[in-house]
Amino acid sequence: MNIQRAQIINLNQVGDDRGTLIVIEGSKDIPFEIARIFYIYGVEKNVVRGKHANRNSAFLFINISGSSKVKVDYGNTTEIYELNKPNIALFVPKMVWKDMYDFSSDSVLMVLSDKKYDETEYIRNYNDYLKEVMGAFE
Ligand code: TYD
Repeated sequence: MNIQRAQIINLNQVGDDRGTLIVIEGSKDIPFEIARIFYIYGVEKNVVRGKHANRNSAFLFINISGSSKVKVDYGNTTEIYELNKPNIALFVPKMVWKDMYDFSSDSVLMVLSDKKYDETEYIRNYNDYLKEVMGAFE
């Protein structure tokens, strides 16, 4: 299995003396068409969310307010990204294990996905995830 890496995308800021505006058009500013948007806020400091991988869905994470960290895990290596600006997005491809944590009290983490919600494509057990990605490292 070929697992793509996460990557930071710098979103274009349209600013003038009235403030700043950011546009996200599917398949133009980000590498997929948008099927779903959700956002996470009001998370206590010590809470870890996510703790899953998705067999089919890719995601784009943006802290449109405050900050949080996203740890991505490919099975054999991990990376930690701090998201703290509304113009910084983290693209996370399918089949990557994700933890979101260290939410600031003002954190609003917006998440875009290329797929509608389907619980059956979630892998919520880390050992199951390792088994499914194992083929990539053999
Ligand atoms: P969960 O996957 O635990 O959130 P996180 O990725 O932040 O840890 O989802 C929390 C609840 O919300 C769970 O009952 C499933 C539901 N949910 C949806 O119905 N649709 C969605 O798009 C998402 C992301 C979650």
